[in-house]
Amino acid sequence: MHARAIKNGIEAICCVHWERRLFDALIPLPDGTSYNAYLVRGEKATALIDSTDPMLRDQLMEQLADVETLDYVVSQHSEQDHAGTLPNVLARFPSATLLCSKKAHEMLVTHLDIDPERIRVVDDGEQIPLGGKTLQFVYTPWVHWPETMCTYIPEDKCLFSCDFFGSHLATTDLFVTDQAQVYEAAKRYYAEIMMPFRTVITRNLDKLGALDFDMIAPSHGPVYDKPAFILEAYRDWVSPAMRNEVVLPYISMHGSTEIMVRHLIDALAAEGVSVQAFDLAVTDIGKLAIALVDAATLIVGTPTVHVGPHPAVYFASHLANLLKPKLKYAAIIGSYGWSSKAIEQIAGLIPNLKVEVLGTVLHKGLPDAGTLAQLDALAAAVAKAHAADPDVVTGV
Ligand code: FEO
Repeated sequence: MHARAIKNGIEAICCVHWERRLFDALIPLPDGTSYNAYLVRGEKATALIDSTDPMLRDQLMEQLADVETLDYVVSQHSEQDHAGTLPNVLARFPSATLLCSKKAHEMLVTHLDIDPERIRVVDDGEQIPLGGKTLQFVYTPWVHWPETMCTYIPEDKCLFSCDFFGSHLATTDLFVTDQAQVYEAAKRYYAEIMMPFRTVITRNLDKLGALDFDMIAPSHGPVYDKPAFILEAYRDWVSPAMRNEVVLPYISMHGSTEIMVRHLIDALAAEGVSVQAFDLAVTDIGKLAIALVDAATLIVGTPTVHVGPHPAVYFASHLANLLKPKLKYAAIIGSYGWSSKAIEQIAGLIPNLKVEVLGTVLHKGLPDAGTLAQLDALAAAVAKAHAADPDVVTGV
């Protein structure tokens, strides 16, 4: 891959990681990913915005081979996939000054062993002229680390957003060509990384809304040359509005919990409530995270293993608790052989979810007519709660 122009004097240096399938040893990457750095050539000075993951160091350095000098390197985010190659860049360009936010300074020194003498902290709103182009720094904390910031070039109406608005996609597309594909990847990215910070993201969106830009250049995935769609998507994801939908992660060992889950799915559908069910034995947890972005209700289905929930349900419940989706209602269903504390233990796993518990249905052995009737009643309670909640949008 060669550096490619996105604006006059601004080049994207895209390092595409086609084969990567797991990020942070946690997050599935079904479509690989990419790490974008940007080279900004002013009349008097040149800057590089971000670097790349150390695994693709050679891709970055090859694309910088013809660059004689760098005056500035901007680190918008200290995580290794963007900052991990900064030591190599600083060694290759010994006169370059590394620019970062106040909180990033300590992180770059402690995480990446960067010489503090090479670093200059920039303030929120500070501008650095390059000659015909100005780097303006915009602090946007918690997208998704405390030190994150964006860079804005007013002359080119271009916003560099690092992880913010990013999408894990391995692609040769410089700009978004398939909005539906990028929407899905960006929503997955939001769900897995950004969702816990919805409140601060709302403030950051408002802050960026004061800037006049017609392009967003993220550090993952293609560049948005028509950024309205991703801005609208983020506004939707962080808004209080929820779908008339249940997310139902479950697992079944001998079939009893599955009978309950199937019955509940049918009962909810009959009540006009959509369901996204995920068999945790086979599901992609990224898909589960995406579903949690919009749903109004979480219902967990579990068998009992040695008194508690199945370990896969433990994991999924803990994950939902970490991601802090906006859902407002929850329920737990499941089965057991002789005794169970599954409901109490799951409830203890989700303290971050400020939910109203609409019901619990726990059955010993094979579900009977009485248990199925309880599930019908639970479905009716979910439909009633959704219908009464002004934040639940029906028909979406
Ligand atoms: Fe793409 Fe938070 O790193």
